[in-house]
Amino acid sequence: MLIPLNPLLSTPLYLQIVEHVCLLVRGGQLNVGDRLPSTRALADQLSVHRSTVINAYDELRTRGLIDSAQGSGSYISANLRELTRNPAPQREQSPIDDQNIERLTSELWQANHDKSIISLALGTPPEDLFPMQGIERCRNLVIRRDGGHAYGYEMPQGYLPLRVEIARDLARHGILCDADEIIITSGIQEALTLTSRALASPNDVALVQQPHFFSDLANFRHLCLRGVGFGLNEHGPNTLDLEYALTLCCKGGSGSYPRFIVVSPDYQNPIGVCWNAQNRLVFLRWAADHEIRIIEDATYRDVAYEPQPNLPLRALDAEVLYLGSYSKSLMPGLRIGYVLARGSLREQLISMKRITTTSSKSLGQRTLATFLAASAYTEHLERVNAIYALRRNALHEALERYLPAGCSWWLPNGGYYVWLNLLDNQPHPPALRLCFVRYPEDVLTYAVRILGQIMNSLLLLRA
Ligand SMILES: Cc1ncc(COP(=O)(O)O)c(C=O)c1O
Repeated sequence: MLIPLNPLLSTPLYLQIVEHVCLLVRGGQLNVGDRLPSTRALADQLSVHRSTVINAYDELRTRGLIDSAQGSGSYISANLRELTRNPAPQREQSPIDDQNIERLTSELWQANHDKSIISLALGTPPEDLFPMQGIERCRNLVIRRDGGHAYGYEMPQGYLPLRVEIARDLARHGILCDADEIIITSGIQEALTLTSRALASPNDVALVQQPHFFSDLANFRHLCLRGVGFGLNEHGPNTLDLEYALTLCCKGGSGSYPRFIVVSPDYQNPIGVCWNAQNRLVFLRWAADHEIRIIEDATYRDVAYEPQPNLPLRALDAEVLYLGSYSKSLMPGLRIGYVLARGSLREQLISMKRITTTSSKSLGQRTLATFLAASAYTEHLERVNAIYALRRNALHEALERYLPAGCSWWLPNGGYYVWLNLLDNQPHPPALRLCFVRYPEDVLTYAVRILGQIMNSLLLLRA
């Protein structure tokens, strides 16, 4: 039985097993009378403690899904038909999990804004590297030039000169588009909410990379969508994982074929993977063959520490919905992102933007347009990316020096994060996401030294 477990989810491992068995049953891969592996065999296969599988089987028995007979193991019960009629609620969608995640997120935000804490959790650019002089100069120029218009309503689609500048800038990445295809949003967060709402209705399913940016699932929950995960290796997704995710969602009855798939081919948050050229092409072919709409989240595309030879998916296929942002590459407080869309979907997104927020702030849009036109953005990228690369290297050296054996990580060529596997002798080791851009090298070294001390003490306690 192929059961991908993810220790990063808030759902306990035993319930993940339960849910997968339910999905296999609903998908028709397990039928009445089919025998499940013994608890020992499944525990060995999944590299989990046997009690995890025992708990999972107990839960399945309580739900009436399996029967067990002394000496003959566990098998799918005749109650299966009942289960198919009354599917068990998805754990990911339960209000209890929502509350937990919301509580954790809000605690994290508070900790992140506590100045007495060195937070390697917060994934935002360092405020002391913001190009304040350049931005102020542009803003003053806009106010002098546009007067009250700088504070008026903008068109819902966004300030035209800004869209023209973005279209021009996208040519750097091989994306050829018209300013009319661009819709300005308040960051990618809004772009993702609008596109998800346009493409799917409550109870629909969407595919999302695993592990993913934590807001992706929060967004799905908010829209009552069900997210089904697929795995990534160091070069991108593999077709087998995608196919498997597809069987998990599409065999659950009408309406559960995925409406779209969200991917970040460039320096994905949190693990920093950058897909290779081959994987991009294979993925596009796979999505086209299955008629699944692609949302490409390009948040970190401009945070590159080496020349990036691989084209964005949108440059290879004009049907891809491309989401861009200036939050990580410039300043998140601008709250400016955008989505590239065409045809009736573009119309729909513009009208949704009009209905929800009317337009993104005028002054910020006009200031950014002026900043981009002066080529100040690319100059800023060169400056900060060089600094971030040094910080990434310092974090790497400190990890090598202070962390106990058994931890593993690799150096991303872009983005903000190092993904640290704490004990590399398990298929899904516990892991930490470390953001390295916010602090100078000596602070990062100090923080990792403390992390190393904590981990060494924990290892001593366990010994
Ligand atoms: C992958 C990813 N997408 C989207 C966002 C949200 O970005 P924005 O500030 O543009 O809404 C983030 C922020 O951390 C992110 O990491």
